Amino acid sequence: MATNPLSILFVASEVDGLIKSGGLADVAKALPQALHSAGQDIRIAIPGYSGIEHLSDAPILLESQLESWPHTPYRVRQCAVGDVSVYAIENESYFARPAMYAENNQAYSDNGERFAFFSAAALDMLPKLGFQPNIVHANDWHTGLVPFLLKYRYQRNDFYRFMRSIISVHNAVFKGVFSYEDVRCLPEFHSHDIWPAAISHSHIAMLKAGVMCADKINAVSPSYAEELKTELGSHGMAWEFQTRANDLVGILNGCDYQAWNPETDTYLPVNYNAERESLSAGKRGCKQALQEQIGLPILDVPMLGMVCRLTQQKGIYYLLPILKDLLKHQVQLVIVGTGEPILAENLREMAGRYSDKLVFIEAYNNQLAHLVEAASDFFLMPSEFEPCGLNQIYSMAYGTLPIVRSVGGLKDSVIDYDDDAHSATGFAFSEPTSQALLLVIQRALLLYCQSPNEFVRIQQNAMAQDFCWTDAAQQYIALYHQALEG
Ligand code: GLC
Repeated sequence: MATNPLSILFVASEVDGLIKSGGLADVAKALPQALHSAGQDIRIAIPGYSGIEHLSDAPILLESQLESWPHTPYRVRQCAVGDVSVYAIENESYFARPAMYAENNQAYSDNGERFAFFSAAALDMLPKLGFQPNIVHANDWHTGLVPFLLKYRYQRNDFYRFMRSIISVHNAVFKGVFSYEDVRCLPEFHSHDIWPAAISHSHIAMLKAGVMCADKINAVSPSYAEELKTELGSHGMAWEFQTRANDLVGILNGCDYQAWNPETDTYLPVNYNAERESLSAGKRGCKQALQEQIGLPILDVPMLGMVCRLTQQKGIYYLLPILKDLLKHQVQLVIVGTGEPILAENLREMAGRYSDKLVFIEAYNNQLAHLVEAASDFFLMPSEFEPCGLNQIYSMAYGTLPIVRSVGGLKDSVIDYDDDAHSATGFAFSEPTSQALLLVIQRALLLYCQSPNEFVRIQQNAMAQDFCWTDAAQQYIALYHQALEG
């Protein structure tokens, strides 16, 4: 059914192509691109961090100040990612800093004020730019106050009255909890009983404000939408998600196959496709290049890769206790990531002890991420929880079988070999224990060593998967229309 195109403002704290720290940025680039290709008028708003390359060369569209007290000045610059316009909202005192959110693992103490300001400015700029979207699409806690302000500040304002809001939940463990004092920059919080945002008499949670005020809410996978309605899965916000259950849906993220295609990936020394000979030559060449680059012996042994933020979420605590047992096998393991110092220290220590089998690279490096995806035979994602996860999807595209814990988007995207050998695309385990992880890895290694033909068939299954953004974009468009009708 053809419907009129919508105009949409997509508000996020990071966008790949300009500045990125994690999966949110991938989505904030790819989803707007897909919506644009589907004929929608979509524009993005992000903070004008000084870390964005060449930002100071971008044209200035607007010099203004917040209309609500305290009239904070801001500047909007015109950037772009692909074909999509990006409004970068600058304010020196908030965003001219070395990092986006934290330095030395320490969050900026005024993050509440910074993202309250950004959320307010993203709406304040609209009439001044002459852009009146039908939909304002917020993402995670950083922009949770956008749906809140639309309701609380602008409901009776003619310009904003018919705008509807969506919030996407990429990770509910981060809630944006601040004291009323921290967010005094918004006059709405001078009163201490703002129930949609309040989590106590003294504190608010920006994610809660977004979830309670948005017209529609989506989680980044169907299983995560279900998990959010539980205490454990929502990290203590079950009541809010249950209350909004009728407006909550799950839409699985897609994959940007332009960036993640082993046949065209310029980061790879050898390109390949799913055809048997090409696949085996490609993976062999990539494995050897990675072994050379990171100093592992050049051996034809199964290689396991892991690229992630080093946080509890990613299941490193399941992996650490079994590393010794795992490394008794003829395997190589490569872990790339940065994050919690204690996890990095543990991995560094183990890598020192087993240097012929385990390499830990404490870095965030896109080239290496691509090479590890291509060179590995298996990709490890034993997450405690995973709203969607993208690396398992990239892995499949590269014929690298994901080994995942069956939660959230991992559950929705990987078919376990023991569950359904015919359609399998990887391996999954459920129990949140190290032992269960070790068992599933051993299961995977057994297939690799004993049934090479069957292994290739599963690789080809994985490579034939198509998690395209075009389909996800259609689901978002349907959700936008529901919001407008509601
Ligand atoms: C967050 C989640 C991850 C998800 C990504 C994009 O980083 O932890 O599971 O894939 O957002 O939605």
